Amino acid sequence: MIRRGLNLVRDPAQRAALSPVVETIAEVVFERWLSGRTAEDNRAEHEFVVFGAAMRIAEAERLPLAGKLVVVCATFLHDTYPIPRVTETAIRETMRRDPELAARLQEKKARQRLEHMLGGARNARLLLRELEHPLRRGEPIVTGEVRERCAAIIAAHDLWKLGKPHPAASDPEALVCFEADALWPLHPLGVLADLERPGESGDPRDVNDPAEWRKQIRHNLETLREYRKNWEADGEVFQDPESVFRTAEGYRLYRGWAGLWGL
Ligand SMILES: [Fe+2]
Ligand SMILES: [Fe+2]
Repeated sequence: MIRRGLNLVRDPAQRAALSPVVETIAEVVFERWLSGRTAEDNRAEHEFVVFGAAMRIAEAERLPLAGKLVVVCATFLHDTYPIPRVTETAIRETMRRDPELAARLQEKKARQRLEHMLGGARNARLLLRELEHPLRRGEPIVTGEVRERCAAIIAAHDLWKLGKPHPAASDPEALVCFEADALWPLHPLGVLADLERPGESGDPRDVNDPAEWRKQIRHNLETLREYRKNWEADGEVFQDPESVFRTAEGYRLYRGWAGLWGL
């Protein structure tokens, strides 16, 4: 998956500069965090799938090498600080029985998301300081500037899930990371991750039941579209009237994955 993602970068010099950085970071992140993931959190493929989408979008948007390095680091390090999930479904269901409890759940969701983002940013800073460039001994794997840009993106990467109009298209690196990550719940492995998550009832769903897949993908697509209203007041230019995608390539992938499910 790493090789395929890198092959999308057309400029051989960029590819040669990205390759040792991606390989080193992916390996360390996998060993330290992803390999021990639980079904409650996410599938270990998440970062690798997001990386493939991010390289497609970054290349189409012509991000320079430094921008692509920021995207690579953020892609592999953004979800290293897991939190117990409070889902919108849980909040909606509680709302019917106990609006006060629902409000507390909403607050808890926001608190945990912030913790998840700040914890991830901290992990990214520490790791990028610690790692040495594999081909240039004694030098850090990325510059301090790339490290700080990456940490800043991670510290805000899920703000959109809290209803904030973030990121803006004026921040192309954050935009690439956002669109690549937002595609995950439409990707077959992302849908599978949702089906495998125990959820409120405590049971994962039956992955042999096509109806469960249909229900989950419809839910994921609807949820993703609901976030479009975050940016309503901001004058951002989107690719269509209902999705959250602003880049042409992010939108192309979005249509492709939604189309795969017949939606
Ligand atoms: Fe996240
Ligand atoms: Fe993610």
